[in-house]
Amino acid sequence: MCDGRIVAADTRARVESRKDARQAEKIDVGGRVILPGFVDSHTHLVHAASRAEEYELKIQGVSYEEIAKKGGGILNSVRRLRVATSDALKRRALGALQEFASYGTTTVEAKSGYGLDVASELKILQLHRELNRAQPLEIVSTFMGAHVVPAEYRVSPDGAERYVELLTEQLLPEVVNEGLAEFCDAFCDRGAFTRSQSKRILSEGKQHGLAPRVHAEQLSRTGAAQLAVELEAASCDHLEHINSTDIRRLAKSRTVATLLPGCDFHLGWKKYAPARKLIDAGAIVGLATDYNPGTCPTVSMPIILSLACTQLRMTPAEAIAAATINAAFALRRDDRIGSLEAGKQADLAVFAVEHFREIPYYFGMNRCWMTMKRGEIIHMQD
Ligand code: NIG
Ligand code: FE
Repeated sequence: MCDGRIVAADTRARVESRKDARQAEKIDVGGRVILPGFVDSHTHLVHAASRAEEYELKIQGVSYEEIAKKGGGILNSVRRLRVATSDALKRRALGALQEFASYGTTTVEAKSGYGLDVASELKILQLHRELNRAQPLEIVSTFMGAHVVPAEYRVSPDGAERYVELLTEQLLPEVVNEGLAEFCDAFCDRGAFTRSQSKRILSEGKQHGLAPRVHAEQLSRTGAAQLAVELEAASCDHLEHINSTDIRRLAKSRTVATLLPGCDFHLGWKKYAPARKLIDAGAIVGLATDYNPGTCPTVSMPIILSLACTQLRMTPAEAIAAATINAAFALRRDDRIGSLEAGKQADLAVFAVEHFREIPYYFGMNRCWMTMKRGEIIHMQD
């Protein structure tokens, strides 16, 4: 590699016989397995605090949606984020990013959506920019003002509509003018935004140059996946409740079906997304953590690979491709990251295993020995 890019990726003999290899510094990884760094294409990186108190309620049998209806859930995180300082949020996110790197992740998509008012959404998006500059992982910023309708808009019957107006007429233009996001996401589901509200927001975002992504069919089937295909979204994520028509449409599209099995695991749900059917139909399947305090408090892509293998019946090779090159495609960066090829960024993760299949096999164990971003070592196991 040179200047943070891969110059050649080949057998040792072929690489060593190159002229430019003579001056190169050699790093011996001792026969360990090298992968492209994981691309985590779905996270809610910036949030103020854990929601472990809700975790206990869930264990007692109170559902995610019941907690949300009582003002908990996402609104709980919104209340805490609004009163948190940027410094405190930044400190928490920086800690998480170091942990992401320690599990082999080199690129992290990050969504706003715990602010839900102009100032707080901008506070999160500005933090994405600062975080991108303050540490080595690349942060890909997504505007998700359409997470849920905030409490102050729930008091009147037309509140949801007025909030959609605030998003499309005030917030979106400001986000775009400031260059604070690349993507626009909406939670199109029961208790969040309807298909038509989501369509308005995402279309408006698209007109402003923000490529759409959709939280789709997680709690119920609303037609969100087909909306994603219609809007040529970069990805639609979750997909536990899709049907065979949705699968066919996704298979014919370039919209990545991003599966988030960590959510189902954390919430104790038995219904996982139909990964096998999607893959067998020819859809582009991605995997991500969905790191967030409500449904998936983990930054570990290896544990997501384990869940993909045991619960989604993906092979280790399919799972690794889903968490690297397919995820890079979902972030429109497949020309630059997601695989180890000459010309691409030297983003890689080295695992202390004998074969790549052992990465998901050793579940819950961190075998990541070293992580490199643009040719710089950013994590080394002690
Ligand atoms: O991706 N589904 C909506 N949003 C998040 C959960 C956010 C939360 O509960 O705080 C998700 O699962
Ligand atoms: Fe999410």
